[in-house]
Amino acid sequence: MTSGDIKLQKEYIQKIKEYIIEKNRPFYYYILTMGCQLNENDSEKICGMLEQMGYQKTDNTNIANLILFNTCCVRENAEEKLFGKLGESKEQKKKNGTIIAIGGCMMQEPHIVEKINKSYPYVDIIFGTHTLNKLPEDLYEAILKKATVRDILDIEGEVHEGIPIKRNDLKKASVTIMYGCNNFCSYCIVPYVRGRERSRKEEDILREVRELAEKGYKEITLLGQNVNSYMKEENKKTHSTITFASLLRKINKIDGIERIRFVSPHPKDFTDDVIEAIRDCEKVCKIIHLPLQSGSTEILKKMNRKYTKEQYLHLAEKMKKEIPDVVFSTDIIVGFPGETEEDFEDTLDVVRKLHFEQVFMFIYSRRKGTIADKMENQIPEETKHERFERLKKLVESQIQENNEKYVGTIQKVFVEGISKNNPEKMTGRTETNKVVIFDGNEKQIGTIINLKIVSEHMWYLKGET
Ligand code: SAH
Ligand code: SF4
Ligand code: F3S
Repeated sequence: MTSGDIKLQKEYIQKIKEYIIEKNRPFYYYILTMGCQLNENDSEKICGMLEQMGYQKTDNTNIANLILFNTCCVRENAEEKLFGKLGESKEQKKKNGTIIAIGGCMMQEPHIVEKINKSYPYVDIIFGTHTLNKLPEDLYEAILKKATVRDILDIEGEVHEGIPIKRNDLKKASVTIMYGCNNFCSYCIVPYVRGRERSRKEEDILREVRELAEKGYKEITLLGQNVNSYMKEENKKTHSTITFASLLRKINKIDGIERIRFVSPHPKDFTDDVIEAIRDCEKVCKIIHLPLQSGSTEILKKMNRKYTKEQYLHLAEKMKKEIPDVVFSTDIIVGFPGETEEDFEDTLDVVRKLHFEQVFMFIYSRRKGTIADKMENQIPEETKHERFERLKKLVESQIQENNEKYVGTIQKVFVEGISKNNPEKMTGRTETNKVVIFDGNEKQIGTIINLKIVSEHMWYLKGET
């Protein structure tokens, strides 16, 4: 991506802006983001571009001039959801001439695009993960030339700088530090739809974080499919000394930023320098997301995860020794092809040993084009669900145990806003990402305050000043 490309897109932004001004009425967009934090961050860029054009955001599809879906395809259920939504938006298009656009990971799957072309041909724009930056041009073609745009590239991927961004939050922000994935875990579609690993330049990331700090942002989450391999590919060519560890240390020095989080690291890339950086950087939250996927060495091998059960446990132990009070969260898949009762017991065993603060649990979902989809011994749905329930029960009992340890302690809580479930109360998060509900006021939003934890309620804690 050259600066010329972004210049060209800015010209299209300007052209649409003039068109909207000429129409002399508000233009609304509706956006639904269906994916992970990286997708959310992409949506913030989509919103940034649209708002520069003069579009205003709405939650009401009936008044929207543009309906946009930013899709995910990591698990099967996303497809049903999208097709359901597309059916609904057909009516809006008929009534109001609404432009319908779909972007994101699912659009990088040829069989899905084929299905949309056949069954939902009224979709105006389809763009993929590699063409998000071209949305202004695509939209221009659709609005002014009434064209049907199919803008998808099957490439390794580029890094696009300079796209405008409209953030969802005023105090917390995500910063993507790398794109793509090279790991090809055998169950996972992400490497096929997001391209190869490529890192943003350190100077671009630091500039973005500094600007956020100047605007009053306090918490930064660094994003990537494999954040601790930041610059790994680039360093093979240039032998630079920039690494994930050095990046953490530099961001830690930026005044105004008070908390730094990152997702997702890969256990195989957790080198000692990263562990030391986490230990030394006081702003880096001492909750580490360490995706386990399975506790069985046999299954991990079939998953192509590149570590054994013992190596994973050893890594967690090493981190506990180095980083005082560190805790962990994780991702687990149940029902991978060939998973025996014994394999599943190994997963439960790791969960019992590590007492995770948070476990994101998934039922294995077959993804077309992945190695695991072609494996024999796919696990019956019933068994998958039964194992999922057993894991969930164990996880919930552990969360309760963990929560009890908080009662009576003083926690530093980042105040996020008014509680959605109880508008009388304020809500915030501990360094370990636990939700805390307390009596407070709106002036505290965006600050970190000390609260005494007085009780636990499974999914949240109650605090007092
Ligand atoms: N790059 C990150 C996250 C990838 S997607 C990582 O490696 O941790 C988020 C999670 O979705 C994964 O960690 C995995 O637990 C889950 N996942 C990915 N593919 C899946 C599939 N086919 N079925 C079920 N869960 C899956
Ligand atoms: Fe998927 Fe594995 Fe890459 Fe994560 S590391 S995105 S699970 S292939
Ligand atoms: Fe994220 Fe889903 Fe794509 S998890 S990277 S939006 S497939």
